[in-house]
Amino acid sequence: MEFVEVNEGIAKILVPRAERIYDAPVFYNPVMALNRDVSVLVARVLKPKKVLDALSATGVRGIRYALETPAGDIWLNDISGEAFNLILRNLRLNFGNAEREVGNGRAVLEGEKRIVINLGDANRLMAEKFRYFDLVDLDPFGSPVEFLDTALRSVKRRGVLAATATDTGVLCGAYRNACLRKYLAEPIRGELCHEAGLRILIGTVVRYAAKYDLGVDVLLAYYRDHYFRVFLRLKSGARKADRSLSRLGYLWQEGNGRFHYKRTFLPERTGAAGPMWLGPLKDGNFFESLWNELKAFQPAHRKTRPFLELLAKELDVPFFYDTHGLARRNGLEVKKVSTIIERLNGRGYSASRTHFSPTAIKTDAPFEVVLESLKEKS
Ligand SMILES: C[S@@+](CC[C@H](N)C(=O)[O-])C[C@H]1O[C@@H](n2cnc3c(N)ncnc32)[C@H](O)[C@@H]1O
Repeated sequence: MEFVEVNEGIAKILVPRAERIYDAPVFYNPVMALNRDVSVLVARVLKPKKVLDALSATGVRGIRYALETPAGDIWLNDISGEAFNLILRNLRLNFGNAEREVGNGRAVLEGEKRIVINLGDANRLMAEKFRYFDLVDLDPFGSPVEFLDTALRSVKRRGVLAATATDTGVLCGAYRNACLRKYLAEPIRGELCHEAGLRILIGTVVRYAAKYDLGVDVLLAYYRDHYFRVFLRLKSGARKADRSLSRLGYLWQEGNGRFHYKRTFLPERTGAAGPMWLGPLKDGNFFESLWNELKAFQPAHRKTRPFLELLAKELDVPFFYDTHGLARRNGLEVKKVSTIIERLNGRGYSASRTHFSPTAIKTDAPFEVVLESLKEKS
């Protein structure tokens, strides 16, 4: 294997040289530096002591947790032997003099921090480390569902679960049957598919957690590039689980673009998408701390800061109106997003852009008012 050294955050990482990222024997995607920046920021705010990077590949994520956050006991795991060897090399590159013990598919580096590399199935490791971690990070190829049960047992009962899902085609309804199978949920096609997909993912974690009498609070959830990302705080207790379940519901949309959603455990009409999470996608206090932390942090990706700025300004209400979709569906002329936001504000409503689409608006205004703002002559 031939390697190139890359810098990400304050980490130095050897990554296999390859024509295309998916051809590499060990996976590294520089676009995901934004995902890792946000994860490091989250860990700097939450200060977890014990962290698991369950699907580690080159080790970049776990190494960044070790270098850039206060975590003291960091575990990196992968099922591939090539990944295990590369993680070990990368750890030596960053923590040269740490004392180490290597053998039987495990390496332990004891320096200022304890770093453990494990070679094996993430499900097996998480099953063994019962209620051990303050933060478990799942960053798989595709869907995280096959790791959810063990992750929910491995994270402490008030810990945090972070998960990436790159199976956007499944969650957005391009592969409906796969969504039914993996997420036990009906997806929706059209403008709302990404927000609905993110909410289906959260709704699935809520249902998995409920059986362990765990409730879920969303610290932050977003869609970006080709993936969904969620940071979920677990809360211990049957009533907390009941409360989280009561925030699940269904979404449906009319031909003119008007959408409806309703909180209910079972669908009350045919053709509705869900079940999905209908609660908030960010926790206000948590996001404020994240924002403050950003002042003392140098992101690795040039788009991390503008992206968080967009999230900060985004109104946290379920779903949005896509101005192009609305114009097309109602035979109207397209107007600038900023113009419609001004018009809605002028009528006393809140409105903002949304990270889900550059042509869409989140607002607390009723559908008719949004349509009027689109019809209004300049
Ligand atoms: C998308 S890559 C991880 C990328 C990494 N988290 C990052 O930020 O660069 C997924 C990794 O999961 C590993 N993997 C797949 N199935 C696994 C399993 N059951 N247990 C542990 N690792 C697994 C693969 O070998 C691969 O290295």
